[in-house]
Amino acid sequence: MQLKPSLTAAISRLTADHVPSPRLNAELLLMFTLNCDRAYLHAHPERELTAAEQSRYQAALAERVRGVPAQYIAGHQEFWGMDLIVTPAVLIPRPETEHAIETVLDLASPSVGRALLPANSPHLRIADVGTGSGCIALALAKELPQAEIHATDISPAALEVARANAARHQLESRIHFHETDLLTGLPPETFDFIVSNPPYVGESEEDQVQLDVRKFEPRNAVFAGPTGLEVIARLIPQAHAALRPGGWLILEISGTIAQQVQDSLQSWNDVFLIPDLQSIPRIARARKPPR
Ligand SMILES: C[S@@+](CC[C@H](N)C(=O)[O-])C[C@H]1O[C@@H](n2cnc3c(N)ncnc32)[C@H](O)[C@@H]1O
Repeated sequence: MQLKPSLTAAISRLTADHVPSPRLNAELLLMFTLNCDRAYLHAHPERELTAAEQSRYQAALAERVRGVPAQYIAGHQEFWGMDLIVTPAVLIPRPETEHAIETVLDLASPSVGRALLPANSPHLRIADVGTGSGCIALALAKELPQAEIHATDISPAALEVARANAARHQLESRIHFHETDLLTGLPPETFDFIVSNPPYVGESEEDQVQLDVRKFEPRNAVFAGPTGLEVIARLIPQAHAALRPGGWLILEISGTIAQQVQDSLQSWNDVFLIPDLQSIPRIARARKPPR
């Protein structure tokens, strides 16, 4: 069968099975099957698919109909302009997490953050807690070439993916990976920035979480415990200990826990909640008081 009718049939199949964004999914999976970009799909509508390609495409579509996210089937997701490997061991990086990167970059800009660095500090030190695919650590390593970056995760399988992504983008020498619980074992009063997209969904909210997320994304990446605050509640004091005075904590959060997170940061300075594009509080930032 030719490419165009294959794509049309796939869109019909995904639509019939109530898969959201059927065209996007059908195109993504065909791009994965043929190892090509979207421009190629549109430039070669008459290209014949080989029997092997047809069967790979049908298998990928069947996985998607079963609910497996297209990113796990294709094994890739774009984040901050980088193509990242994703496997079911890691959360699929979300666009809203880019707000965490923007927040760090704003605060680290020469006019704002660098001026706050102590005179004896040769470069920024940054820790990404719960690195998953490594998306935050990699984006910051790419944008801040002088920074020393540390990335932690409790999951060895996730760290394997993060390391592979660092190697893929020639950033492996820039990021120190640590298999640990939050910031355990990292030196005190060291970091200028601690940034994290921690698990923050409460088990009590499980019904409101998309079925595909619940079924296929790692549970310990999504759910923090009964209320959603459990990991953040442990991370805030650990971050306080690991930041140097005047250093910044930047957390991705949800609207559900925003008020409690703000309350937990009462003893910090410059606490501010930053909304995402849907006006939901998405980032909490706070500064450890200077000595
Ligand atoms: C929401 S995911 C974020 C992944 C990635 N940073 C991102 O933004 O896509 C949370 C990550 O935290 C890790 N994690 C969960 N509990 C942890 C803990 N106690 N210590 C370190 N990492 C933890 C999970 O393995 C997962 O990779």
